[in-house]
Amino acid sequence: MCGIVAYIGKKQALPIIINGLKKLEYRGYDSAGVAVVSESGIAIRKKAGKVADLERLLAVNGFDKTSTVGFGHTRWATHGEPNDLNAHPIYDDDQEIIVIHNGIIENYNSLKIRLEREGYIFRTETDTECLVHLIRSHFKNTDNFETSVRLALNEVEGAYGICVLCKSEPGKIIAARNGSPLVLGVGEKEFILASDATAIIPHTRQVVYLLDGEMVTVTCDNFSIKTIGDEKIERALEEITFDLEQIEKGGYEHFMHKEICEQPESIMNTLRGRIRKDNGLVKLGGLTNVVDKLAFAKRIIITACGTAWHAGLVGEYMIEQMCRIPVEVEYASEFRYRDPIVYPGDSMFVISQSGETADTRAALKEAKKRGADVYGIVNVVGSTIARETDAGIYTHAGPEIGVASTKAFTSQLTGLALISLLIAQHKSLMPPNEIKKITDELLRIPDKIKMILDQSDKIKEIAKVFKFCQHMLYLGRGYNFPVALEGALKLKEISYIHAEGYPAAEMKHGPIALIDANMPVIVIAPKDSTYDKIISNIREVKARKGVVISISDEHNTDIDEYSDYSIKIPSTCKFLSPILTTIPLQLFAYNLAVLRGCNVDQPRNLAKSVTVE
Ligand code: M6R
Repeated sequence: MCGIVAYIGKKQALPIIINGLKKLEYRGYDSAGVAVVSESGIAIRKKAGKVADLERLLAVNGFDKTSTVGFGHTRWATHGEPNDLNAHPIYDDDQEIIVIHNGIIENYNSLKIRLEREGYIFRTETDTECLVHLIRSHFKNTDNFETSVRLALNEVEGAYGICVLCKSEPGKIIAARNGSPLVLGVGEKEFILASDATAIIPHTRQVVYLLDGEMVTVTCDNFSIKTIGDEKIERALEEITFDLEQIEKGGYEHFMHKEICEQPESIMNTLRGRIRKDNGLVKLGGLTNVVDKLAFAKRIIITACGTAWHAGLVGEYMIEQMCRIPVEVEYASEFRYRDPIVYPGDSMFVISQSGETADTRAALKEAKKRGADVYGIVNVVGSTIARETDAGIYTHAGPEIGVASTKAFTSQLTGLALISLLIAQHKSLMPPNEIKKITDELLRIPDKIKMILDQSDKIKEIAKVFKFCQHMLYLGRGYNFPVALEGALKLKEISYIHAEGYPAAEMKHGPIALIDANMPVIVIAPKDSTYDKIISNIREVKARKGVVISISDEHNTDIDEYSDYSIKIPSTCKFLSPILTTIPLQLFAYNLAVLRGCNVDQPRNLAKSVTVE
């Protein structure tokens, strides 16, 4: 979603802003713009397209490059199409108040009607413009920038992360958040505000995370935080823990490929310190105080969106089988609108890579309101969901920049396996030697992933065959049904090929009508209790001339007879099988998308972290 970068200090602001915007490109956007304080006022340029298009515009028209105060924005369109006019910054006719905004102003219409009556003329189709005129109208009355922003925000409903410049008070940037993340980087007599820490890390590791309902006024010497209710806030600095290299491509052509290949390491990071060396049992510091409650929960709700929801579906199988606790997996976007039944004391797990997904946050809030205890499985340290949950674990997969989630997913599965084992061991449902067998296997998973990654060339060759296909079906059973959904999602997202995931046995209840020589079917068929049934499903596909790509255990050759293409992976236990079966599907989708010339890291219309509902 939209990205914000603002700089105030002693250095030239523009290169810092542009580089920051490039770091935020992964969030997804369709136009970009900048504003800097110059001698004659505030200079603004904006453009539909990529940051590179904006750079070309800035190069040709002598934009003030010496300014030390300014901000930039990448916009993911919600209100109004992605054209030059609707790109941010948004400003009034006198260029007195200049705003960049991430989020949606929900009472935009009523504010617009009122402001138009007061004589303000709207030039864009954006909801942000009402914020500009609202601040301006307060500025006319108060002649005070900070007060005007505060008063305006008190009238606004909806989600926002904003930065504001004011021509009459040029040495100041005011930023505020409600629902859309904003981080303030604190350097030596310089400050950088950004939607996430990736744009800040090249400059400083010291940060302050703004919370909902807070605004910060920043000058080149200092900053002060208040609530929009005008209460002063003291907040200690926090330290960013990841390194710059982690957000660089490191020799790979795409972040997605880098992140697929990082999985042996990212999974090790999820496991680090969580399996006891002496007895192989699980310890999760973040859940120690609540494990008793979890162990005796009557049921557990898991909520998430997209790929994280698929992880939740695997979690359902794991928790139900290992812990014998009923689990319900809910789309976060549906949860709060269906008057859900939540009893006080119910336990909910919220899964999110970014920790900022608006739908997931809304479900979390709803569950809390109804008395549930809410636990997070979150990747981004310090993110909003991590803060809003009562307890939880970080997945420690490291920054995920590619829009298509890969390493975050396998780390979520690893985290869910650890949580299930922890609960099972607490309830004494599994003997310690059984737990140890699985944790030993967990520790072998990174090496097994390496063995799959070694087959990248073979998977690429298979992908070549399907470069021009238009549809694809993914089938899996049990633990691998959610993997079929995830494989199909990966393909859709980055290659724009229509794909559907089904439980294999459901095929005969409808999708089988689609099978012919033009319908490739990927079948995830590890040798487990459903294997023979899946072979029957494959034969049903072959009988209708479908093309079968199978994924099964190494040494399992009988499936080859029914497969047009077969990919072999190392064997593992059923609980952990999805971590391995996912990898060839990621590689397949990645290679197919690259062959089709798609922008795999920033697929059209998608945002990395969806901060609007
Ligand atoms: O950051 P989150 O895990 O909360 O994001 C949830 C989904 O938006 C995300 O998984 C999305 O489906 C990805 N693009 C999938 O690759």
